[in-house]
Amino acid sequence: MTTPELLIRQARVLLPDGDFLLGDVQIRGHQITQVAPEIPAESAEATEIDAAGLTLLPGVIDPQVHFREPGLEYKEDFFTASCACAKGGVTSFLEMPNTRPLTVNQAMLDDKLDRAAAKSLVNYGFFIGATADNLDDLLTVTPTCGIKIFMGSMHGALLIDQEALLEKIFAKGSRLIAVHAEDQARILERRQQFAGRTDPAVHSQIQDNQAALLATELALKLSKRYRRRLHILHLSTAEEVDLLRQDKPAWVTAEVTPQHLVLNTSAYETIGTLAQMNPPIRLAHDNEVLWQALRDGVLDFIATDHAPHTLEEKSQGYPNSPSGMPGVETSLAVMLTQAMQGRCTVPQVSHWMSTAVAAAYGIPLKGAIAPGYDADLVLVDLNNYAPLKREELQTKCGWSPFEGWNLTGWAVTTVVGGQVVYDRGKLNLAVRGRPLAFTNS
Ligand code: DOR
Repeated sequence: MTTPELLIRQARVLLPDGDFLLGDVQIRGHQITQVAPEIPAESAEATEIDAAGLTLLPGVIDPQVHFREPGLEYKEDFFTASCACAKGGVTSFLEMPNTRPLTVNQAMLDDKLDRAAAKSLVNYGFFIGATADNLDDLLTVTPTCGIKIFMGSMHGALLIDQEALLEKIFAKGSRLIAVHAEDQARILERRQQFAGRTDPAVHSQIQDNQAALLATELALKLSKRYRRRLHILHLSTAEEVDLLRQDKPAWVTAEVTPQHLVLNTSAYETIGTLAQMNPPIRLAHDNEVLWQALRDGVLDFIATDHAPHTLEEKSQGYPNSPSGMPGVETSLAVMLTQAMQGRCTVPQVSHWMSTAVAAAYGIPLKGAIAPGYDADLVLVDLNNYAPLKREELQTKCGWSPFEGWNLTGWAVTTVVGGQVVYDRGKLNLAVRGRPLAFTNS
């Protein structure tokens, strides 16, 4: 059997140097084979996509998602989440260990890899969660993108809020450590202080900027002591940006979510607990500082922290409502809309949502449109504004904090490993992603 050929015709193709080429991209099997102004089809059965007027970007790699399988499939599972990814232009994801059971050893990691192989339409990789007693597993499990530590805003075995234990993890091994940096002691103290308050806005006061800063300072201190590769997840405050601006070792990276860039505490007035997440959304001032840090390279890339909860759970009222919001389906359109409105450029968005993520996690042959790279691609329409509608969402939780937002840059076609997984509103449910490789872990 000959290798299938896919030709994307006359797209505005983003090249690795940040320039655009008006031309064709040839894909054979799972690989990009040519990028040129005009490529003649090599086989009579080549599939052709007319991309005139559309922009071709490397597929988004979302490096922080919670897909809830196993154990919490009533909120989301690999199938529904990956459908949302395909529709949103996300071709790979890195998923977090707070599932049931927790992903804390090789057996649970293998179980997730098997489940994703059977159900995920896009490529996948998994974090291993640190507990008080799985130090050996943290060093030996494979394949993983890295170790996840919840320094705060977590309960049970995944919470590591004691410096001595954190230090043990930082001291042993060299694998990437990704931290959810919020100081648990401060959160608990402030919960007492604000007890009885039920307005969701108090969430940002309880888990305040200082709680985030304290934990980020501690993680940075330990990372410097052991020269340990550190990644700061969903960094959210101006104070943490200041800290990194003063001193960010070469082995430290940090990410920001679209929601921390475009939402602030005013969102509690309009969408209430749907805006509740950890770390919380902040003030408009923090939005500005985070944008500047991203443009300056103090922040390295973007992750959604896709954390679906049902509307029923969210409507329980604060503080019983769970924290988290979905994101994979909307992140690219939210960010490209910002680019079209002049906040940043389209190549910057693609760098933050694909190229820089592949580099930081050492994911080979992803994050660029060039011969030899994997054909994980998204074709977007930058000139077609459309409002986000709840009824069009693929995520099982069935809502988005961005409902009603008039967004452009929606994915028109998404390609995973050379196969069209989404095209003009239709998902190809037969496509399956592959496990990601990590050269840095
Ligand atoms: O708001 C959040 N929800 N932040 C996290 O980091 C965890 C997540 C969840 O799993 O629900």
